[in-house]
Amino acid sequence: MKKPKIETLIDIIEKSGEILVDNYRKKKRVKRKEDDSPVTPVDVKIGEFIRERLEKMTPSFSIISEELENRERKSKFTWIVDPLDGTTNYIHHIPISAIMVALCRRRSPIMGVVHFPLQDLTYHAEKGENAYLNGKRICVSNISPEEGLTIFGTKIQKKEVWSALRKARNVFSDFRMLGSAAMSLTKVAEGKATACFEAGIKPWDYLPPKIIVEEAGGKVTNIHNEEIDWESRTIVASNGKQHDSLLKRLRN
Ligand code: IPD
Ligand code: CA
Repeated sequence: MKKPKIETLIDIIEKSGEILVDNYRKKKRVKRKEDDSPVTPVDVKIGEFIRERLEKMTPSFSIISEELENRERKSKFTWIVDPLDGTTNYIHHIPISAIMVALCRRRSPIMGVVHFPLQDLTYHAEKGENAYLNGKRICVSNISPEEGLTIFGTKIQKKEVWSALRKARNVFSDFRMLGSAAMSLTKVAEGKATACFEAGIKPWDYLPPKIIVEEAGGKVTNIHNEEIDWESRTIVASNGKQHDSLLKRLRN
């Protein structure tokens, strides 16, 4: 089966964004998952909307979608879906939430789309084809982590995040926690932040924006400067300038 067109994927994801927008002001029924992270009926509804359309388009591909059961098939292609990144923001009416999808070929992302319906921002990238925001090419920044902004993941109960934050206080000029891995990584891709650090995250949180950062000229690794895979839980993305020295300063 041929690789689907990125325009079709963007269209599906942008349509699913209407569900997020329509429910934004409404009070949410929140359930806690086994790992204590929150989930709402909107997370599930968007996941089902996207899965139905992806299956129609590529019936032989596997699908891993955060809030739904995996549909594993004998295919070298797998869709990875995060129907709502930044669920805690969404519950509290903080408008930083995204819908993300990556297509992986033998576990390596070859296509990624990250859409923020409340801001009308759509990032996309395909392997070897550069990265784009709303159709315009984007590139990482050219400044050092000391001069720029660094973004941290919000799992502060993770000792890695605490430890990196304590170190960061003395090294970086400024940093933020935005509650969305999608926002952290795409801000690096767009050249607004120089780096971001996330611990305790899952493949659907980082595979779609990873290819966007890389195609924008940046770097995404684990804290030991190794290639990340589906088992990675700690990631660092940067504009690639001083990536190694940044990692050394964030390590325990
Ligand atoms: C979470 C957000 C958050 C990150 C967490 C993720 P979710 O995703 O991206 O910023 O720090 O690790 O789990 O649960 O809202 O999809
Ligand atoms: Ca999610």
